[in-house]
Amino acid sequence: MPAALEPDVILETRGVRKTFGGLVAVDNVSIKVRRAKLTLLIGPNGSGKTTLLNVISGFYKPDAGRVIFEGRDVTGWPPHKLYHLGLARTFQVPQPFPKLTVLENVLLAARGHPGESFAAPLRKHSWIRTEEELVEKAFEILRLVNLIHLWDHPAGMLSGGQMKLLEIARTLMSGAKLLLMDEPIAGVNPTLAHTILRFITKLKEEQGITFFIIEHRLDIAMQYVDYVYAMARGRVIAEGRPEEVVSNPLVIDSYLGG
Ligand SMILES: Nc1ncnc2c1ncn2[C@@H]1O[C@H](COP(=O)(O)OP(=O)(O)O)[C@@H](O)[C@H]1O
Ligand SMILES: [Mg+2]
Repeated sequence: MPAALEPDVILETRGVRKTFGGLVAVDNVSIKVRRAKLTLLIGPNGSGKTTLLNVISGFYKPDAGRVIFEGRDVTGWPPHKLYHLGLARTFQVPQPFPKLTVLENVLLAARGHPGESFAAPLRKHSWIRTEEELVEKAFEILRLVNLIHLWDHPAGMLSGGQMKLLEIARTLMSGAKLLLMDEPIAGVNPTLAHTILRFITKLKEEQGITFFIIEHRLDIAMQYVDYVYAMARGRVIAEGRPEEVVSNPLVIDSYLGG
């Protein structure tokens, strides 16, 4: 079906398959992520969630299937190209530049991959022209994620929870329309987790940003989620409203190792 018929679908996978040697990590997965919604991907360890995210964000090429972003077939596109189109991914283990300040880390995210950006003289000119505007935006984002007081501290000094906030800030700075996150609140205390999720909700509602998130902490995330896909053994085994999916016997069994 052409994506144009469903303008509210920002991202779609069609029959995605990814194998590692003989192991089928992702098996014929077709999902739809709707614009300005928070879609959650759940499933027990090893069910293929991260691999699917890696295929969508261009870190892996699928063995079969298509990835459609904004109505465009982007299957096999490299991460930096997708990033510039507006699809960004935060990592489970945040990867800021530890010796640079919090602000510098956020500013660098505005131009995607730093190595590539610094090389291009044209980009350098555009950086100079918009420097003030970018710094302003960076401070605004740092205020939103409650890191403003640490703007001139080296990123390497942040706590685990603050690192996650920084990673979210960097992703927001990219101007992404679709943010993919792998367990953004894992290991984060519940208060901070709710802060992050409330902020995500705000961005969704006020800026129309879309979120596709892998998360195990359903106890905390549930109230913020619009739609859920559940995977087990590489396949989608259930989808729907959060309450429906978590009470689905197939999903419960998959977590119990059934
Ligand atoms: N780079 C890789 N090389 C080989 N096997 C992998 C690789 N990445 C993931 N796998 C395997 O693919 C399956 C799915 O893994 P993963 O996508 O990480 O699951 P999840 O994120 O749901 O825990 C697992 O069996 C895992 O061991
Ligand atoms: Mg994973």
